[in-house]
Amino acid sequence: MQPFGRSFTNPRRPPREGKLVTVGRVEDVPEGRGAAVELEGGRELALYNVGGHFYAVENFCPHRGAPLADGNLCGHTVECDWHGWRFDLRTGACLNHAAEAVETYEVVVEDGWIKIRV
Ligand code: FES
Repeated sequence: MQPFGRSFTNPRRPPREGKLVTVGRVEDVPEGRGAAVELEGGRELALYNVGGHFYAVENFCPHRGAPLADGNLCGHTVECDWHGWRFDLRTGACLNHAAEAVETYEVVVEDGWIKIRV
């Protein structure tokens, strides 16, 4: 059995600076879908549209580093495409392994523009 835990650290997690970054328009992310968002400096997040509400988490599964933007979305849960770990987009909690989690980021929509606080 493979060991669990953060064997891989996320090299693309943006540093917390408290600033809002405009990443696109609401129509860029259809309902029920996820998208990878590229930030300056090679940083990256995953953005999801759940029933018209937007959620952002790091685009990196703590198990083996899969891009979570490619995962399967079911309600507020994204399931990693590689080995099935599931994460609650509202809290970042891993639903398979309580000790694991992903970072979450505040998303603000203003005049149809999606902004993420990094
Ligand atoms: S990389 Fe294994 S569950 Fe995500």
